[in-house]
Amino acid sequence: MQIPERLVEAVSNANHLAVLTGAGVSAESGVPTFRDAQTGLWAQYRPEDLATPGAFRRQPRLVWEWYAWRRELVARVAPNPAHLALAELQGRVPRLTLITQNVDGLHQRAGSRDVIELHGNLTRTKCFAENRVVDEWPPTDEVPPRCPRCGAHLRPDVVWFEESLPAEALTRAMAASADCEVFLCVGTSTVVYPAAELPFRALAAGAVVVEINPTSTPLTARAHHVLTAAAGVALPALLRALKRD
Ligand code: APR
Repeated sequence: MQIPERLVEAVSNANHLAVLTGAGVSAESGVPTFRDAQTGLWAQYRPEDLATPGAFRRQPRLVWEWYAWRRELVARVAPNPAHLALAELQGRVPRLTLITQNVDGLHQRAGSRDVIELHGNLTRTKCFAENRVVDEWPPTDEVPPRCPRCGAHLRPDVVWFEESLPAEALTRAMAASADCEVFLCVGTSTVVYPAAELPFRALAAGAVVVEINPTSTPLTARAHHVLTAAAGVALPALLRALKRD
């Protein structure tokens, strides 16, 4: 895949590169994106109907089991060339801020450091009442299990619809978008706010904005560079071009 020379130059000269990823960066690992149809047992549900506090209050067992299924799926897959290229890129530029909407932890498994997780991480569990992470709890047949501290239901440490994002993560992500010279927007439909605001904030701050996505999004018309390709193809190609540069 050919990377435009002007893009290679912009990334080579950047002191600060910010990257926002969405479900598309994990697609080639075999993790279905949100806008993919749900598969198998979960085909009858829409994520929007399961990933909400109300859904958990009404059907805690169903929501817990959906995340348990996703945790098992993610545990079985591996980071793909897109994740690995971003991890290697972090070591080739002066500063790379990796911001992800994904909750699968694959960036960390690929070796990326200091990942900003805007929507949490499904491998972490927290107390529904206290909103504090719980690392372990006594064995139980009850589903979901209960908080060993207060007895409320445990839940995945992810941001659900209608919930606010972790303030510190969002603040860091907004600051990186306003400060970077180049902003890569990879594998996201760029429709869910506030994450979707980040590439436009980078544009407004004068950064070179790049979209990597096989299909178009609300960002496509505004981006300086659009690589209409899979992340697992475009990111390794960008890395190879940088090495030649
Ligand atoms: N490489 C790059 N992009 C891809 C690939 C790929 N191999 N495969 C699919 N895509 C693109 C799709 O074209 C789509 O634009 O990835 C995007 C996935 O979009 P969504 O499924 O909407 O996922 P995302 O943008 O991460 O959703 C944002 O919405 O559902 C909530 O909280 C959830 O974090 C999620 C947020």
